[in-house]
Amino acid sequence: MCVSLGSRKILFGVCGSIAAFKAAAWVHALAKEEAQVTVVMTTSATRFVAPLTFASLSGNLAYTDMFAEGMAHIALSATADVVLIAPATAQTIARLAHGMADDLLSASVLASAAPVLICPAMNSRMLAHPATQRNLATLRGFGYKIVEPECGRLACGEEGAGRLAEWDTVREALLGLLANQDMAGQEVLITAGPTREPLDPARFLSNRSSGKMGYALARTAKRRGAAVTLISGPVALEPPPGVHLVQVETALEMAEAVSRSAQAASIVVKAAAVADFRAAAFSAQKIKKTTAEPLLELAANPDILASLGRNRRPDQLLIGFAAESGNHEAEGKRKLLAKKADLIVVNDILGSNTGFDADTNQVTLITLDNVETLELLSKEETANRIWDKAMSLLVGKRRQHGTEQV
Ligand code: CTP
Repeated sequence: MCVSLGSRKILFGVCGSIAAFKAAAWVHALAKEEAQVTVVMTTSATRFVAPLTFASLSGNLAYTDMFAEGMAHIALSATADVVLIAPATAQTIARLAHGMADDLLSASVLASAAPVLICPAMNSRMLAHPATQRNLATLRGFGYKIVEPECGRLACGEEGAGRLAEWDTVREALLGLLANQDMAGQEVLITAGPTREPLDPARFLSNRSSGKMGYALARTAKRRGAAVTLISGPVALEPPPGVHLVQVETALEMAEAVSRSAQAASIVVKAAAVADFRAAAFSAQKIKKTTAEPLLELAANPDILASLGRNRRPDQLLIGFAAESGNHEAEGKRKLLAKKADLIVVNDILGSNTGFDADTNQVTLITLDNVETLELLSKEETANRIWDKAMSLLVGKRRQHGTEQV
């Protein structure tokens, strides 16, 4: 159930704001993902960027005139899977809130039954004005989704709220509108990345985990409607938009952060590669070269998954990972039982396209009564298959505990 933008019909409305130049880059990005983009521009948008730019980038005619194109507003609206308006100016937001149809864009939105995504961009006082806020509230009431503008330096030279959101945030919102919201209402807690165990101010023990699998789980769960908390060790990845990120460094910090959030979670996924050991004693001074080779004394870290397994609510779903270089199934089953998890996802860390830092993965899903090896997939596709499995296990679990609602 992997949602994508490929071959989706997107009606892309562009309004008269300096941020219209960013819309050109977004049309380019959508076309690269093979979305079918048709751009409709307001008259003032054409003062900032030429229709030819959008036509060239989308590969389709860019529409500007209500009267030149016959019944374009009906034809465009009828076939769109989603309507995206970016940048959305105060003027167009007001038009839409009042149900006006005096230009091609507003008429097309009014005639459309597709989900609508609005990305406002304007001066911060225009945004804060009660008229704009009331209009945005009206649009929310229509069921339109608003991607909040960001704070920062505005084109007018002022600092404040009103900057067009980043593409990654908008792309996720688009995918969320197109995805089945089967995880709505779920509180998901995910751990990701490695932990880092300091030896002295300059050195640490860690492992090769990139965090990509855990971040893909967070991104896809959010898209499917879940509220997501992501507890992450040090990684070089952008956090998925809309996810509550808690950054930690050591296993002990991760254990503490997990214990703070675990009770509220309906699903917990331990994708982190937690260091099993830390230095028995941290040296506040840099360990110096000595003639004798120093001995590194280690202390065991707590097993976070095992402790979750001992203390969880009976209706909570617990998913662990197992990083293995051999005996995958046997090791996965052993960890499933030892840590009292509902599902163990076994990773082959020796494969060239699986495990640490790869963009793809091939995993085996192990439950008490089933073993299923998935094909080689992108980490996002793998994440979606793990959520499919999790949701079906959750239905079984809720049935067992007499609460039908998932
Ligand atoms: N895990 C954990 N806390 C630890 C070690 C592991 O929560 N101190 C979790 C991992 O996040 C993963 C699962 O336990 O979900 C299995 O981790 P893995 O490293 O494969 O196994 P270990 O239990 O550490 O056993 P071993 O290293 O001997 O294979």
